[in-house]
Amino acid sequence: MKKIEAIIQPAKLDEIKETLNQINIKGLTITQVMGCGATKGWTEYYRGSEVFLNVLPKVMLMIVVPDERVDEIVSAIIKTCRTDHVGDGKIFISNVERAIRIRSREEGDSVL
Ligand SMILES: Nc1ncnc2c1ncn2[C@@H]1O[C@H](COP(=O)(O)OP(=O)(O)OP(=O)(O)O)[C@@H](O)[C@H]1O
Ligand SMILES: [Mg+2]
Repeated sequence: MKKIEAIIQPAKLDEIKETLNQINIKGLTITQVMGCGATKGWTEYYRGSEVFLNVLPKVMLMIVVPDERVDEIVSAIIKTCRTDHVGDGKIFISNVERAIRIRSREEGDSVL
């Protein structure tokens, strides 16, 4: 199992939900977050001395899926969320050791 964390522009939320529904993704978590990336994220000086991070509102999707679905989902996210402008977002993929459905104590791909 893999965890896909995709940080996207909030304006893409409705469209990505539709896309994920079309490819039969059932479980996901959506969080409103603040962040900055490698470009235009940092404002180094403000009135001569202050240093701060110029963070912007983003949406984070968290989806845990069987290994074999990762490429398909990453492609779908890129296709929907890419505008070719800075700030389109980023996708992180990591391993998940276990997934457990609380109701039934079932484990593994079938709970996803
Ligand atoms: N290295 C990182 N670690 C954690 N979150 C990140 C990282 N890079 C980007 N993010 C998150 O992704 C959001 C979008 O990043 P963004 O698309 O601006 O990345 P970028 O590297 O600046 O690329 P671009 O040049 O396309 O803007 C950020 O606001 C932040 O929430
Ligand atoms: Mg950026």
